[in-house]
Amino acid sequence: MADIDLRLKVNGKLQHVQAEPARTLLAILRENLGLTGTKDGCSSGDCGACVVLMDGRVVNSCMVLAPQAEGAEVTTVEGLAGNGELHPLQRAFGETWAFQCGFCTPGMLISCHALLLSNDNPSRDEILGAIAGNFCRCTGYQGVVNAVERAAAELRAARAGREVRNG
Ligand code: FES
Ligand code: FES
Repeated sequence: MADIDLRLKVNGKLQHVQAEPARTLLAILRENLGLTGTKDGCSSGDCGACVVLMDGRVVNSCMVLAPQAEGAEVTTVEGLAGNGELHPLQRAFGETWAFQCGFCTPGMLISCHALLLSNDNPSRDEILGAIAGNFCRCTGYQGVVNAVERAAAELRAARAGREVRNG
């Protein structure tokens, strides 16, 4: 089947890709765009290693085909850091030992980021719910939950500081 022309925005940057219709968003990110932070764990929608945000939703990018990504806005783990600084979640993951081998971490970070975009003070159960689709063989998940709590507190404090400064 002929390649299709695909336009999508990845981490704020417009991208133009030629891809077979059966190519996955995961393959486009890793192989066409060189964004290898997103991992391929199972290629079957089971492990969450390939999680990205697509139009604000958490998706397993191995289950999204090229035509479904046309016009989409995608955020990968490479899009979390900004202005040369790690995202508070990334820092917190390091501080709380939320990873060991790190293979699950990019997808885990995106799922946690999505949670904090909609809920700035999640309970431990809500955090566990948000990462239910992200499998980790190493950590036992407690470090991840601790990291999300720590990052959420930092983000709330930063927001409160901005509100005070802006009156
Ligand atoms: Fe996509 Fe496992 S690689 S869910
Ligand atoms: Fe190894 Fe999660 S840190 S799989």
